[in-house]
Amino acid sequence: MAKVKTTFFCQNCGASSPKWIGKCPSCNEWNTYVEEVVQKEDKAKTTWREESIGRVAPKPKVLSEIHTTSERRLATNDQELNRVLGGGIVSGSLVLIGGEPGIGKSTLMLQLALGQKNTRVLYVSGEESQHQIKMRAERLGVPSDNCFVLAETNTQNIFTQVKEIQPEVLIIDSIQTLHTSRIESAAGSVSQVRESTGELMKFAKETNTPVFIVGHITKDGGLAGPKVLEHMVDTVLQFEGDRHLSYRILRTTKNRFGSTSELGIYEMSGTGLREVSNPSEILISQKEEDLSGVAIGATIEGNRPLLIEVQALVSAATYGTPQRSTTGFDAKRLNMLLAVLEKRGGLRVSAQDVFLNIAGGIKIEEPALDLTVCAAIVSSYHDISISDKVCFAAEVGLGGEIRGVNRIENRISEAEKLGFEEIYISKYNTKGLNVSDHQIRIKPFAKLIEVFEDLLG
Ligand code: TYD
Ligand code: MG
Repeated sequence: MAKVKTTFFCQNCGASSPKWIGKCPSCNEWNTYVEEVVQKEDKAKTTWREESIGRVAPKPKVLSEIHTTSERRLATNDQELNRVLGGGIVSGSLVLIGGEPGIGKSTLMLQLALGQKNTRVLYVSGEESQHQIKMRAERLGVPSDNCFVLAETNTQNIFTQVKEIQPEVLIIDSIQTLHTSRIESAAGSVSQVRESTGELMKFAKETNTPVFIVGHITKDGGLAGPKVLEHMVDTVLQFEGDRHLSYRILRTTKNRFGSTSELGIYEMSGTGLREVSNPSEILISQKEEDLSGVAIGATIEGNRPLLIEVQALVSAATYGTPQRSTTGFDAKRLNMLLAVLEKRGGLRVSAQDVFLNIAGGIKIEEPALDLTVCAAIVSSYHDISISDKVCFAAEVGLGGEIRGVNRIENRISEAEKLGFEEIYISKYNTKGLNVSDHQIRIKPFAKLIEVFEDLLG
């Protein structure tokens, strides 16, 4: 009988301590320590590594002798996924997909599994039965002979099946349901999640098989279980979006094989996730008449220019303290812009309720949207609509000055491509910009007040 050892683990960051402590010294969270049984390694119970008999311990190699053929990329037929992965699935990589329950992680993974016609994919689910997966697959309507499904939570059993089926891609849904018999504690606990991920990592690296792991998200939006999970994997993708809206955004937050600023956009339909290749079209609402309080901004998310609609509603406050409410935009930034509008733009907004909404349920952190937000507010305040052929791309400073933004060329080109006729930018962005290259009229300004004079006449 192996000796039973218990340790306390912080459920937030994965730090361990031999004793219970109230405040985690590593992440400063309170009451996150939970006792977990960590049984001494039992040699009889095999893991991936111990099963790979006859394996030789790796020796150091000169870098030039290592062939890069091992970093083969498998292009999926999901262009959005390819993009966020940096150009396809890298063999031997471990990819973590995080997201709130019900956002569509399982759907995305099953769609990936079904879409690979010439690749053997094993989809392991600890949450649904084979029957339920079959029902979901039928809903997606893509038949495949190369997609194997397994409803199993024990890692040792999973590896036994993996050896039999020899999949070229392995999908685990979700890591919180996995259970390795090497450790006593319950599935979903820090030590279980860490151990299971470790085994999957060894498997991925040794067999050069890409592994996708689905992970749940905690109430505060972090990946459930430990931060250690994020350190262990090669790529972390976040699947986000408003559950009530149909758009979903797949964002890279870590990628050892590509850029972290990529973005994939999907729409959840009755038959699964649909790729949205031209997001600007969906993010700008098709309105019939001229509405005041609507302005369009040219933003950049990752490497991708996006034209986004900002809606503002300014109305006299009926109660003492005016309300300020935002969706998809930083509330503090809105307050700052309102102060600038009041002080430098001569707008009496201090006694007005202001509501701001970024259309499409998308969240924008870029300051390049400042001028668009100001324009939408001014438009609503005066009840004068802005033409839907006009867009904006500039930051607004505390002095009411219009500041330049990065990659202005990309923003202008995207706006032009989508048929906009005028773009308001900062005067400081015009250096090196060849205005005659563009069909779209570029309007450079230095002060907020000048923009409004031009806009509202
Ligand atoms: P799911 O992939 O189960 O989410 P997760 O694994 O992240 O918890 O997605 C569940 C939601 O997606 C559910 O509310 C139903 C919806 N859905 C559709 O709208 N269309 C579909 O074709 C499918 C399969 C799911
Ligand atoms: Mg799921």
